Amino acid sequence: MSSSREGICPSNRQPTMYPAKDIHVLVLAHPVQGHINPMLQFSKRLASKGLKVTFLIPISTKKSLNLVNASSIQVEYISDGFDNVEADKLSTKEYLEHFRLSVSQSLSDFIQKHQSCQENPAKVLIYDSFDSWALDVAIEHGMHGASFFTQSCVVSCIYYLVHQGTVKLPLDAVDGQGRVLCDPPVMSVLGLNDFPSFVADVHKYPGVLDIVLGQFSNFRKAKWLLFNTFTELEEELVNWMGNQWSMMTVGPTIPSVYMDKRLEDDTGYGLSLFKPEAEACLRWLDSKPPCSTVYVSFGSLASLGEDQMEELASGLRSMKSHFLWVVRESEEKKLPRNFLQELGLDDDKKGLVVRWSNQLQVLSHVSVGCFMTHCGWNSTLEALSLGVPMVVMPQWTDQPTNATFIVEVWKVGLRVRANERGVVTGEEIELRERDHGGGERGKEIRENSLGWKELAKRAIDEGGSSEKNIQEFVSNVLDLCT
Ligand code: UDX
Repeated sequence: MSSSREGICPSNRQPTMYPAKDIHVLVLAHPVQGHINPMLQFSKRLASKGLKVTFLIPISTKKSLNLVNASSIQVEYISDGFDNVEADKLSTKEYLEHFRLSVSQSLSDFIQKHQSCQENPAKVLIYDSFDSWALDVAIEHGMHGASFFTQSCVVSCIYYLVHQGTVKLPLDAVDGQGRVLCDPPVMSVLGLNDFPSFVADVHKYPGVLDIVLGQFSNFRKAKWLLFNTFTELEEELVNWMGNQWSMMTVGPTIPSVYMDKRLEDDTGYGLSLFKPEAEACLRWLDSKPPCSTVYVSFGSLASLGEDQMEELASGLRSMKSHFLWVVRESEEKKLPRNFLQELGLDDDKKGLVVRWSNQLQVLSHVSVGCFMTHCGWNSTLEALSLGVPMVVMPQWTDQPTNATFIVEVWKVGLRVRANERGVVTGEEIELRERDHGGGERGKEIRENSLGWKELAKRAIDEGGSSEKNIQEFVSNVLDLCT
């Protein structure tokens, strides 16, 4: 049995259940790990309150999915249109357009079939805000839409302001201190380089810029706007947004066993596009002393340059702590030559490299004292909710903004800075790891991390801010359908 920060056995406490009414909702996920996880967890919360949930994943081949557990909901696969089209021959823009056209069609076909064969068909479609066109499909079929935002409120707020023209692109500082935005006031922590990469560099990913801004193209037609965050974490932004339109915070969407323990059997996300080396990680972590290991992961998409991989490897090799580093299969070829051989094979070695981990198991393990992260929104919420201090090394998309909030606003992490070539050196990594371990700053960060952990749990537990919103959402759906 592995040790963990807290026991992770599901408790027998049961969530409040509505009387079974056979009320059905459809959930359409965007097929990227960082988007599947939060919507799947939200679906489990809805199922625990008595709703019937069908979770739709547009994907060409089920083979790339490891279905671990999702027993409370029904998972269905619909075509993403890439069965006969080679995705890697398309530009990002072409890829996204093909995805939109194909999934609009397969979603429409699915709804039509669902409506014709179900006695009590779903009246609500919950869809990823990145796929805003799904709302049009829902409306065509007489359904209501709930847009689910998988990223932070601060990032969504920036996209909203750009979409409505309040913030002009290319970005420009509005005062002598490099600030772009001062309203709501917490935004003033963001310098030009802290904005999401899609707006900071408009020419790099034009197709994706259309999508992130498109979240706000038809959002007023959605009946609900759901955000994977919790009010206490982004209070100023939640209030600011809440003054302009109706929205609900429903996060953090993390398996119940790590949070409120009210959902029986909710011990992990359940649907993985990668195969985790869970046993190997736990065995290795079990052999290490408390807080002795730095966990390093850059999520499911980010790709580091070869020189950056080399510097990172050198920093990890020379730091005092042990390390557990996730290097996805597609990234392995960039590891320095002989790095793995030099680490050796026995459990005493300084570091372990795996292709994918069960990240929540790792972060909740007592031997992990620090998370070196790319600051994807899920990784950020997971570290905050499990009380793990961070070293932030953002790569792209929303990550620079999340990183700034982690360091400057929530004060639960330190940042490693890139040099003039845009590379974070091994020396810099080693220095920040030392700061983390000792000194006043390290102590403050550890204390703050524990504070946020408590608040995150409270938000999703009975009577908490997100739990109340989820309950309200379910009541709304029941009212609509009965
Ligand atoms: C993407 C974007 O990059 C991110 O910035 C955005 O906020 C969401 O979509 P990704 O880069 O994969 O996601 O990062 P993140 O949001 O952190 O999601 C990764 C998920 O995979 C997390 O839930 C994490 O627990 C899980 N994971 C990651 C594992 O289970 N094992 C791993 O080894 C690495």
